[in-house]
Amino acid sequence: MSSLKGKKILLGVCGSIAAYKSAILIRLLIKEGATVKVIMTREAGKFISPLSLSTLSKNLVLSELTIENDSLWNNHVELGLWADLFLIAPASANTISKFANGICDNLLTAVYLSARCPVLISPAMDEDMWAHPSTKRNIQLLKQYDNIVLNVSHGELASGLFGKGRMMEPEEIVSRISLYFNSSQLLKGKKILISAGPTYESIDPVRFIGNHSSGKMGYALAEACIKNGAEVTLISGPVNISTPERLKKFIPIKTADELFNATTKAFTNSDITIMAAAVADYKPLNTASNKIKKKEDQFKIELVKTKDILSELGKKKKKNQLLIGFALETENELANAKEKLKSKNLDLIILNSLKDDGAGFGTDTNKVTVIDNGGKKKELPLKMKTEIAHDIVNIIISKLYA
Ligand code: CTP
Repeated sequence: MSSLKGKKILLGVCGSIAAYKSAILIRLLIKEGATVKVIMTREAGKFISPLSLSTLSKNLVLSELTIENDSLWNNHVELGLWADLFLIAPASANTISKFANGICDNLLTAVYLSARCPVLISPAMDEDMWAHPSTKRNIQLLKQYDNIVLNVSHGELASGLFGKGRMMEPEEIVSRISLYFNSSQLLKGKKILISAGPTYESIDPVRFIGNHSSGKMGYALAEACIKNGAEVTLISGPVNISTPERLKKFIPIKTADELFNATTKAFTNSDITIMAAAVADYKPLNTASNKIKKKEDQFKIELVKTKDILSELGKKKKKNQLLIGFALETENELANAKEKLKSKNLDLIILNSLKDDGAGFGTDTNKVTVIDNGGKKKELPLKMKTEIAHDIVNIIISKLYA
């Protein structure tokens, strides 16, 4: 992970069950070299003690606009000026609403209104609160104020229900902060085409052939490219993640044929193309127009090969274009990846081995080897996909400027 050495981070903690994670956040930020000061709302103090957070941050935790029986005023302007980044994690629906509407009734909201540094907000709430139009409008407003609002994740919520609304994990938040401070603008003006996620090939109106791709790696790459100033077009199969902010264009697709059409069209104008999509290699020869009834004991589906999109792009590639592919392997990994690099006329191939723990489909982490058409090979250790994406983008930048 890139270092946060010397960075001053002001952490705002709101009343949410996720407040206990702020302790982990502080530890991780300090481990990366940051100085952390903490502001808690009164409600946050019911979920985690100020003593824990002051011990971990090695700084007094502030909560009220005044201290020592109202005889001293906490200078909120000074706090906002001190910080390089104001992180609110967890940000409750209540505080988000106050931020959006300029309400200033505690130290946290007063600091928000007077802060001049970038503001990063990591929401946490129940799924229904997250889905409410009023929350959606408030989040929109925060984005208009140029605050960076992180996604919520899907999982078990304090209510016991499962759904969207969980705070992003501390490791992921710290990784986003690292990216924020360590990104360059070296891809400014570059048009980048990225495909991500699975394809679904219909058997009948109800069933399809798909795969376990979550789209996380491709989406992380899109975010990393945008952070480095690129204009990104993202073509995505069906996934359960929000589209990155500041995308130039988003093209949803379902099938390998749709992906082929969208990709070949956008390819001509792209400086760099990254095929991270897990494309179905075969599709049903025929798609039934009605639901297939379970009459037979055995049932066969005749499959035909889909087009190899990357190979087609490799044939069309011009000198000034970079083409990057993935190789998902379970055996003879390196040899197979090198073969794909050559046969598909790629500049780089990113080898994913499903044999490595924590790597591959669905996980937040990955472990990859990047192989260059010039013979260079770089193994990246197990890291968050957001960090892997950042490393891959740096390799692409080096190749671009080599
Ligand atoms: N790919 C593609 N079109 C396909 C299949 C794969 O563009 N019909 C791309 C993928 O997006 C990936 C690369 O080709 O970037 C390699 O995909 P992978 O599944 O590892 O290999 P395949 O080429 O499908 O070969 P095999 O399944 O035999 O390993």
